[in-house]
Amino acid sequence: MQKLFSLKNLKKYYPILGGVLRREVAAVRALDGIDLEIYRGECLGVVGESGCGKTTAGKTIIRMHPPTSGQVNYYGRDNNSKNKIDIAQTKKSVLKRLGIRSKLQMVFQDPTTSLNPRMLVKHIIAEPIKTQERMGSRDLEDRVMGLLKLVGLTRDHLLRYPHEFSGGQRQRIAVARAIATDPEFIVLDEPTSALDVSVQSQILNLLKSLQETLNLTYLFVTHHLLVVKYISNRAAVMYLGKIVEIADTKIIFSKAVHPYTLALLSAIPIPDVAHKQRRIVLTGDVPSPVNPPEGCRFHTRCAFAVEICMKVEPLLEAAAEGHLVACHRKMNMEKLMSDRFN
Ligand SMILES: Nc1ncnc2c1ncn2[C@@H]1O[C@H](COP(=O)(O)OP(=O)(O)OP(=O)(O)O)[C@@H](O)[C@H]1O
Ligand code: SF4
Ligand SMILES: [Mg+2]
Repeated sequence: MQKLFSLKNLKKYYPILGGVLRREVAAVRALDGIDLEIYRGECLGVVGESGCGKTTAGKTIIRMHPPTSGQVNYYGRDNNSKNKIDIAQTKKSVLKRLGIRSKLQMVFQDPTTSLNPRMLVKHIIAEPIKTQERMGSRDLEDRVMGLLKLVGLTRDHLLRYPHEFSGGQRQRIAVARAIATDPEFIVLDEPTSALDVSVQSQILNLLKSLQETLNLTYLFVTHHLLVVKYISNRAAVMYLGKIVEIADTKIIFSKAVHPYTLALLSAIPIPDVAHKQRRIVLTGDVPSPVNPPEGCRFHTRCAFAVEICMKVEPLLEAAAEGHLVACHRKMNMEKLMSDRFN
């Protein structure tokens, strides 16, 4: 597997300003030290409760937001580690000159707000192409038409405004705009959650087929583990600004270890009355990211917490090959779970 990104201790803190002088009095630790490899051609699902830092992770990786510290090493197509570039520390103007900015795109949850309501579809899609290269109007229109076709729209849609489309069609336009610059990597931030259930699967299928045709790498952010199961080959579970577990999606669904992942999995309803579900109910709210708990951040809600959990932060370490877990009790979790439920 070829690496596309290697993130090292990536942090993004949003300052909280206070007092008459509007000085920084505290910070929201939205992303608090992420180490992660993203491989070329994969779809990495990112799940976790609201506010755990999923969107911030996506925006920080593509440098939409400047990171507070850490590295976002990006490997070129030749995959030569000598040619990697730390996007986090490189000026935006340099990234643009090197053609890297246009290779990294994002699709947002709500296409109603992400598309300019005063622009025709043809201009919405042409805009990112024009910032990247000079092109005659005929060629540009052909290119836009090609993109519309790829996302399942037609020539009739070229001269319409976003409000003249359904939610699903609007998301198709947003996807066409994202792929207009021939990107390598797209952050898909809950791209189906604002849509009707019937349309969600159409958009998921479209994204899947585009990934194959255009050889794309995705970071797919969602609340729903079942969406991850459908679209992602690897899944990362986030809690309060950290990754707590990451593995192949199949492993997450069959051999998850972290108590938080197990709780998220146990909340998925199974349509079988004979099946006795082992439900782990998460009690309490997610603590504040301004002042996260010491030790393991999950200890305030974890049924298996012991003394060390309150004092020492667990590292994200291998429980098996390719399966990383941040939990002091990872090696005993199978037994702890079976003692609890038997
Ligand atoms: N621009 C910002 N300024 C200040 N705080 C922010 C900003 N953006 C996000 N945050 C805070 O950072 C934390 C993580 O937010 P983020 O949007 O990344 O979470 P999320 O996992 O995407 O949540 P959701 O599932 O609700 O979209 C939250 O506490 C949020 O309030
Ligand atoms: S380290 Fe302790 S508190 Fe954290 S998830 Fe593991 S058992 Fe629970
Ligand atoms: Mg979000």
